[in-house]
Amino acid sequence: MRPVGGSRLILCASFLLLAAAGTGSAQQAADDEAYERPYTICGPNQVDRGTYNGYRRYHAFCHVCHGPDGLGSSYAPNLVESLKVMKRDDFAQVVAGGRQNIAAGKESVMPAFYEVADVMNYLEDIYSYLKARSDGKLGRGRPERCPS
Ligand code: HEC
Repeated sequence: MRPVGGSRLILCASFLLLAAAGTGSAQQAADDEAYERPYTICGPNQVDRGTYNGYRRYHAFCHVCHGPDGLGSSYAPNLVESLKVMKRDDFAQVVAGGRQNIAAGKESVMPAFYEVADVMNYLEDIYSYLKARSDGKLGRGRPERCPS
C-alpha cells in the first residue's frame, strides 16, 4: 500500500473512533440523567409508584425535622433547595451516615439512618420524591399515582 493511502486509512479509522466515543458519552449523559432524576411525572401531580412511596416515607421519617413537603424548618434545612445542588450519592451518604453541626454554638443533628430498613430500602424513592419537588415538577401535598 502507498503511504498516502495508509494515512488516509488511519484518518478514517480515527474518525470512526471519535464518532463511537461521541455516542458513548451521549449514552453516558442519558444514564447519568436517569440516575439523578429517577422520577416519572405522568400528569399534573401524578407520579410513578416509587416517587409516591417516597412521598409517604418522607412524611413518616423526615418531615418532623425537615418540614412538610421538604420545605425545611427552623431546625433542619429545606431539602427542596438542598437537592438543587446535592447529587444523589451525596444525599444517600448523608441520610445513611447522618451529620452533626456544632459550629457557632448551634447544635443540629441529622440522625444516621443506616440501621433503619424502612428508610434505607426506599432511599431511591425518598430521593426521587424530593428531586421531583426540587426540580419544580411536583407541587406541595399528596401526589396521585400514575394510572397503571
Ligand atoms: C431529628 C431531626 C432530623 C430528621 C428526622 C431527619 N433529618 Fe435530615 N437533617 C437534620 C439536620 C439538623 C440537618 C442539618 C445538619 C447540618 O447542619 O449539617 C439535616 C441535613 C440533611 C441533609 C443534608 C442537607 C444539606 O443541604 O446538606 C439531607 C440530605 C437530609 N438531612 C435528609 C434527610 C432525610 C431524607 C430524612 C428522612 C429519612 C431526614 N433527613 C431526617 C435533621 C433531621
